[in-house]
Amino acid sequence: MRSRKWLWLVAVLVVLVSAGTYPLWTTWITGITQATNTSATTPQRHPLAADSRGSAAASSLATAQAIAQTQKKRPYRVELGTAVQLDVLTSETPYRDTLTSHFTSITPENALDFRWTEPGPGVYDFKAADDLVDFAVAHNMTVFGNGLVWYQAVPDWLKNGQYTRSQVIAILHDHIYTVMSRYRGRIDSWEVVNEALSNDGSALRDNFWLQKIGPDYIAMAFRWAREADPDATLYYNDYGAEMPGPKFEALYNLVTGLKKEGTPISGVGFQMHVNLSYLKPTMQGVSANFVRINSLGLKIRITEMDVRGLTGNGATQQQLDEQANLYGSMATLCMHTKACVALTVWGVTDKYTWIDALFHTEDRPLLFDRSYRPKPAFYAVRYALKTP
Ligand code: G3I
Repeated sequence: MRSRKWLWLVAVLVVLVSAGTYPLWTTWITGITQATNTSATTPQRHPLAADSRGSAAASSLATAQAIAQTQKKRPYRVELGTAVQLDVLTSETPYRDTLTSHFTSITPENALDFRWTEPGPGVYDFKAADDLVDFAVAHNMTVFGNGLVWYQAVPDWLKNGQYTRSQVIAILHDHIYTVMSRYRGRIDSWEVVNEALSNDGSALRDNFWLQKIGPDYIAMAFRWAREADPDATLYYNDYGAEMPGPKFEALYNLVTGLKKEGTPISGVGFQMHVNLSYLKPTMQGVSANFVRINSLGLKIRITEMDVRGLTGNGATQQQLDEQANLYGSMATLCMHTKACVALTVWGVTDKYTWIDALFHTEDRPLLFDRSYRPKPAFYAVRYALKTP
């Protein structure tokens, strides 16, 4: 009886192997082993010490395993992401701990911007971006790539270089291809073009790319991004289009046109840099926009959310509560919109927000305060993302 059972088991294994499922079930078994033994996937050395250059194959295997494991362990359907500054990550333990304990996705705050990744013509520097991507992979986090085509990220050598149209086209093509190919399999979603619309949405932004290439630069960038990574999810990203109005109409027309021409765009990113007074989005308004983007068959991400707390009414606690309500309502909306795949906030802690430098304030726009204590906004987001 016993030997019969063994015979059956051997027969089933032979069938599985001959059916070509061997890689599938070995991955499954490896996954189970890893899930029950975290030290197996956690590198002993500090991941930021790693120089990933030259170890792409090992790195992509590690990534594939990490992604498989990550999918199993995801606490929310929607990714909770944050922008990350590498210098703070390497120097402040509470920053790193807050990041790894509470977020599932990373967007490099600056490291992938064109001006940092290609600091000279044809000269690439991936040190900072590699460190961030390696860190994300080592900690089972996904990465949202950015900074490929953004007018503020154009390096001086390119801006001042007197290049012809065809040279600029060649430079942009090489840049997109080089950067995206490097992270293929490790970064699965990209902001391909950022902020191509003017502030009020009345036209395309009069920027370097428009002046040098013309309006086609947007479609070109998406086509090259698809060529560089056939599997990546490709986003158009902009600010000020969260609520119905001219900016949203401009964005809607832009992406509708791209879709009609067959441009390989997969989604729209809404930055959501908002406040508690004149830039306060409502659930109803944002929801209407999400529905229209969804109807085009596009995915949605909230890509850079922050809420300037000081713009609220009343004392600090009232501002924090109002801020929490706003964060919670946007997280709820994302959670209930099938096309919405991520909510990313623009920084781990109030201590390092870009807002302070711009507005000369000490604001509190994020989910963790300056001492890394979770704020009401954090609990509101966490509750929303856990509630189906
Ligand atoms: O790293 C250099 C440092 O070497 C140099 O000494 C110092 C001197 O100014 O500058 C440092 O770079 C700064 C960088 O942030 C890193 O701190 C740049 O000057 C500064 O311009 C840059 O600001 C970033 C800004 O984009 C412009 O690139 C902010 O951190 C970043 O939060 C902000 O993010 C943008 C998104 O990419 C797009 N959407 C809007 C959002 C807010 O503006």
